[in-house]
Amino acid sequence: MTEPYSLSKARLLDTQDSLKAFRERFVIKDSSLIYMDGNSLGRLPSDTVKYLDKAIREQWGERLIRSWNEGWYQQSMRLGKKIAQIIGARPDEVILSDSTSVNLYKLAYGALKLQEGRHEIISDDMNFPSDLYVLQGLVKQFEDKHTLRLLKSSDGISADMTELLRMFSSQTALVSLSHVTFKSSYLYDMEKVSELAHMHKALVLWDLSHSVGALPVSLKKANADLAVGCTYKYLNGGPGSPAFLYVRKDLQEKMVNPIQGWFGEKNPFEFKLNYRSSPGIRKYLTGTPPVLSVSGLEPALDMVLEAGISAIRKKSIAQTDYLIQLAEKYLYGAGFRLGSPEFNEKRGSHITFKHAEGYRISKALIDPEVGKKVVVPDFREPNNIRFGITPLYTSYEEIFHAVEKLRMIMDQKIYERYTTTRGKVT
Ligand SMILES: Cc1ncc(COP(=O)(O)O)c(C=O)c1O
Repeated sequence: MTEPYSLSKARLLDTQDSLKAFRERFVIKDSSLIYMDGNSLGRLPSDTVKYLDKAIREQWGERLIRSWNEGWYQQSMRLGKKIAQIIGARPDEVILSDSTSVNLYKLAYGALKLQEGRHEIISDDMNFPSDLYVLQGLVKQFEDKHTLRLLKSSDGISADMTELLRMFSSQTALVSLSHVTFKSSYLYDMEKVSELAHMHKALVLWDLSHSVGALPVSLKKANADLAVGCTYKYLNGGPGSPAFLYVRKDLQEKMVNPIQGWFGEKNPFEFKLNYRSSPGIRKYLTGTPPVLSVSGLEPALDMVLEAGISAIRKKSIAQTDYLIQLAEKYLYGAGFRLGSPEFNEKRGSHITFKHAEGYRISKALIDPEVGKKVVVPDFREPNNIRFGITPLYTSYEEIFHAVEKLRMIMDQKIYERYTTTRGKVT
């Protein structure tokens, strides 16, 4: 029998992996690089290079402005339909647009307007700061008539549903949460939150950035109201690739888009001087989409659809469990503790370990002068090292080597060589 914590076991798991062929479809030039940050920026799919080359040389270089009528104009809708399949929405409920923060602003504004007379917004203290900044900005914009209340996590890892229920009142207009939290990877029960919110006639706005492409989401089943999300993490759309937004069909006409621009106009090329809102989801657009970035996203979405989100989730669970088992055996004695939920059904596809020396340890992981492998996780203040598992390309062997390097760093106290001064981007 293969020893459970050995390299040969990791290799055996890789041979048994039903998704292993997908790894070959990413640009992976350096086999000594162990990339565990796909939850921040996904790897580059090989087909993306071809798609972008075509978009640049043929569509832009040769067809020029004609390309708008040859596909560019419909691209945000067309790819929105592909994302709709990944997040269990209707094809006419999702569109690519702007960044996650801008989309969150648009939908939160629309929701607060629709809920006029109600003055409370609920979020939590594990939410991504940009989301909170947007909500704080809206409170100011609505002249401080609203209060933003944050559900406090007792351990910084998970949320208590009973506490959440206690926060609702007849004043609750909107609940805005990350489906999977960025630091701890806590996964909210979307159906349960929707049910609680709807009982109180509140709307829920989900940030799906850390769940889309990593686990099954069914907005339809949860009767979700609103959602936004980015495409550069588990969807591998590339740096700054456009975000998406979802508005449930029956809310689309009821809600306004606060940033009216020509792409959300009924017929922009009539150049009417007064805005007429486009029907349906298109009205949530504002200006010209980043066509090249949108083009680069398509092959990446196709790969997720081809692999199937259930298979992706199955492997993600197996790999996050595997990482935790290795950590229990080799790392917990060295001062690490789990900063993510223990049970796999309560977490997304990244695992966080907390350590008082987290920053310096993550520096040593990335350092090519230390050991034979470069391991790229990311660090989140004050003491969290996040390891992203992207089942389309993460191998068991990589997870094994990442833990092995961590062991070496701790055994030899290698982290002591680094300063605690933070870089601009961690
Ligand atoms: C959960 C979450 N929400 C929002 C954002 C911000 O996204 P954007 O830069 O597209 O506005 C991020 C960025 O990493 C994120 O992780």
